[in-house]
Amino acid sequence: MEKTMEKIVNLCKSRGFVYPGSEIYNGFANTWDFGPVGVELKNNIKRAWWKRFVQESPNSYGIDAAILMNPKVWEASGHVQGFSDPKMDCKSCKQRFRADNLVEEHSKGTVSAEAMTNEELENYINEHKVKCPHCGNFNWTPIRQFKLMFETSRGTVDGEKDVVYLRPETCQGEYVNFLNVQRTTRAKIPFSIAQIGKSFRNEVTPGNFLFRTVEFEQMEYQTFCKDENSLDIYENTKKNALQFVEDVGLKAENLRFHDHDKLAFYAKAACDIQYKFPIGWEELNGIHHRGTWDLSRHQEFSGKPLQYLDPVTNEKYLPTVIEYSIGADRLTLAVLCEAYDEETLENGETRVVLHFHPAIAPYKVAILPLQKNLSEKAREVYALLSKKFMCEYDEAGSIGKRYRRQDEIGTPFCVTIDFDTLQDDTITIRDRDSMQQQRLPINEIIPYIAQKIEF
Ligand code: GAP
Repeated sequence: MEKTMEKIVNLCKSRGFVYPGSEIYNGFANTWDFGPVGVELKNNIKRAWWKRFVQESPNSYGIDAAILMNPKVWEASGHVQGFSDPKMDCKSCKQRFRADNLVEEHSKGTVSAEAMTNEELENYINEHKVKCPHCGNFNWTPIRQFKLMFETSRGTVDGEKDVVYLRPETCQGEYVNFLNVQRTTRAKIPFSIAQIGKSFRNEVTPGNFLFRTVEFEQMEYQTFCKDENSLDIYENTKKNALQFVEDVGLKAENLRFHDHDKLAFYAKAACDIQYKFPIGWEELNGIHHRGTWDLSRHQEFSGKPLQYLDPVTNEKYLPTVIEYSIGADRLTLAVLCEAYDEETLENGETRVVLHFHPAIAPYKVAILPLQKNLSEKAREVYALLSKKFMCEYDEAGSIGKRYRRQDEIGTPFCVTIDFDTLQDDTITIRDRDSMQQQRLPINEIIPYIAQKIEF
């Protein structure tokens, strides 16, 4: 079975995971709207992440900072000056590309463009006569830097409006609140701040469905520590980040670490976890040693001291930060790709099934009356189960078709109501993966499912 992005995109659209943004206006490039099933899937992934990194992690605190921040934040972070990509335009077809992507694609990943200067990128493209992937011509403009931050304005009087930015990452909200969180929680170093929220980037070459979009959600986790412990914490963060993506269902064989070739001057280490998407091995998340860079810049630009005072030793210092950052949409895409399967059944038919971890699945259980005149009892069961779980109710079509529909959205359990249910209050529960069925009393369904969907 070949797993292609096209198959995933088509299934997502037809089953209500993800629709093209503003579709009735012919869409709006690289924006996507999550449908009824997709929003459940993404919310479950975000909840699992929050549970793991906030609820179950000692000394971890969640925040939800504003998207619009004082523009000085982005001067301090270096984004106003330096957050840009090297772009080249094809003069023949007017398409725009990232020069580093052109090099990596041409060299089939054997050349790492991440560490190359613009001059080196341009030399490679000229020496190898790298052609435009769209029209096939070799007719490039020189490289220019393309700003990735979206600007908007604040103020009511035209001409007196101030430029503000849509945040391109969520972590700055964690840095500027570092002392607020430390003081209000009386946290002692090492401690972590977590946040989930929207980020915006005017990407040069967005694409590949949810992989690179202009608006996306990030789940970011900053650990503030003593520099002498920072490499141990970095290693531990790598381990926890890998464990999490395996636990949400990504197979170990489709995951690998990729150390960065080029480190920022303040960093002692940086890596990504890559996932084997249908488009190849690509970054899923980043883990970065950020030294004291972010806090020292905010201290400098705000004029406010951000040092931590150790209550035992009275030592005052700026902590080192270990950052872990993962895109919720990109992880949702990886989970969809991993879960997708086409199976040939005994009768020769093919079933498309999404093998989500039950905790992540959009709906936990579907209630299916075998006949329409059983719907009253089925509605009762639905009312009972929907107090605890996201449930589907479906009485349209043959039972086989209804099972197929649930398989395609990854519902781990289907409960059928038949005439015996009216007599003895039992139902049949079917497991999505094994397709095995068993009889259970109605009052045992909730504990049965609750135990299976634990994360
Ligand atoms: N604060 C660090 C930071 O933002 P990043 O490597 O630029 O680091 C972190 O982004 C993660 O956010 C990526 O690994 C990816 O999962 C996600 N991400 C970044 N840009 C994205 C985009 N344009 N579309 C979807 N997800 C994106």
